[in-house]
Amino acid sequence: METNAFQQYLIDVIGSGFLALSVALGERTGLLKTMCNLTRAATIQEIAQEAGLKERYVAEWLGAMVAGKIVEVDSQSTFYSLPNQYKSVFESTMINMSLALVMCARQQENLQTCFELDGPCGYSTRDYPDYYPWLNKTRASMVNNILDQDIIPQLEDIQDRLESGVLVADIGCGTGNLTCGLARRFPKSTFVGIDYSPEAVKLAVDTSADNVVNNVSFELCDAEKLPEVWKERFDIIFVHDVIHDVCFPDKILSEIHRTLKDGGIFSLVEVDACASHFESKNNLLAAMAYTFSMHTCLPNSMATLAPTDRRSCWGKKEVTDALNKAGFFILRDVPTMNEPNRHFIMKK
Ligand SMILES: C[S@@+](CC[C@H](N)C(=O)[O-])C[C@H]1O[C@@H](n2cnc3c(N)ncnc32)[C@H](O)[C@@H]1O
Repeated sequence: METNAFQQYLIDVIGSGFLALSVALGERTGLLKTMCNLTRAATIQEIAQEAGLKERYVAEWLGAMVAGKIVEVDSQSTFYSLPNQYKSVFESTMINMSLALVMCARQQENLQTCFELDGPCGYSTRDYPDYYPWLNKTRASMVNNILDQDIIPQLEDIQDRLESGVLVADIGCGTGNLTCGLARRFPKSTFVGIDYSPEAVKLAVDTSADNVVNNVSFELCDAEKLPEVWKERFDIIFVHDVIHDVCFPDKILSEIHRTLKDGGIFSLVEVDACASHFESKNNLLAAMAYTFSMHTCLPNSMATLAPTDRRSCWGKKEVTDALNKAGFFILRDVPTMNEPNRHFIMKK
C-alpha cells in the first residue's frame, strides 16, 4: 500500500472503531431499537422522547450514525430514519461484537500489564466484571442458530441415544444457554452443566428457571479436576467453545476421556482460526478474532501458571493433535456456520 493509501486506510480503521463504540451505545441505550421501531422519519426531539433520553446526547449520537452511513437524514438535517433493510441486521449477533469491543476496552489496562516482561501471565474471565453477562446475552441471541445449524445436524447417528434418555454433560457450560437448549430438545435425557465460574453457574440456573427446563442441573466445578466418582459416568459430553480458553487443555481432555463411558460420544466445538498469520492477511474478521482473543481467551488461558506456547486462536491441526493425544477417535469434523469454529464428533 502507498503511504497516502495507508494513511486513508488507518483513518478508516480507527474511524470504524469509534463508530462501533457508537453502535454499542445505541444498543445499550435502546436507541437502535427506537430507530428500528420508527414507522416514519423523525426529528431528534421525537427520537429522544420516544427513547426517553436527553435530546442533546441523542443529537450527538445521531450525528455519528449519519456520518457513519447507518442512519439517513434529509438535507436540512431535520428528519432521521434507519433504512428498512438495515433493521433485521441489528437483530443479528454481530451487534454483540460491538458490546464486546466495550468489554475489551475496559480490560486493556490489565492486558497491557500482561505484555510487560515482569507483568502477570494473564487474568481470568472469572475476575472480569462484564464477561458472563455479555456471554449470556450473546448466547441467548444465538442459541437456536447454533443448535439448528452447527450441533444437531451433526448428531444424526446419536440422536436416538439422546431421544431414548441418557446422561449428558456440558463442560464449560458458561451461562447455560446451550445446555438448556439441548435439554429442551431432548426431554428424556438428563443434562449436567459444569463450569468453574460461580457467576456463570448462577446465570445458568436463572436461565433454566426462566425457560422452565427441568431435566438440567448445574455444578460449580473445575473441569481440570472433575470428581473422582464420575469415572465413566456420562454417555455423551458436549464442550462448546471452551478448550482454547483454558490453561491446560490436555488436563481437561483427559478428564473428559476419564468421565466418558466406553463407546460414549464427545461433541466438541472449537475455534478453527487460521493457524498461520500469513493466511489471515487482509481478513478483518480474523483481526477481530485475534483482538477479542487477546483481550479475553489468551489471558484466561495463561492466567494460572507459566505461559504455554499454544495460541488461543488455534486451528484444526492443533485441535486434532490434542484430541488424538487424549485418546479420542475422531468420527468426523465439520466447519460451523455461526462462528469460525469446527465441530468434532468423537468416540471413546
Ligand atoms: C467461551 S465460554 C463458552 C460457554 C458455553 N460453552 C457456550 O458456548 O455458551 C467458556 C466457558 O468455559 C469456562 N471454563 C474455562 N475454564 C474452565 C475450567 N477449567 N473448568 C470449568 N469451566 C471452565 C468459562 O468459565 C466459560 O464459561
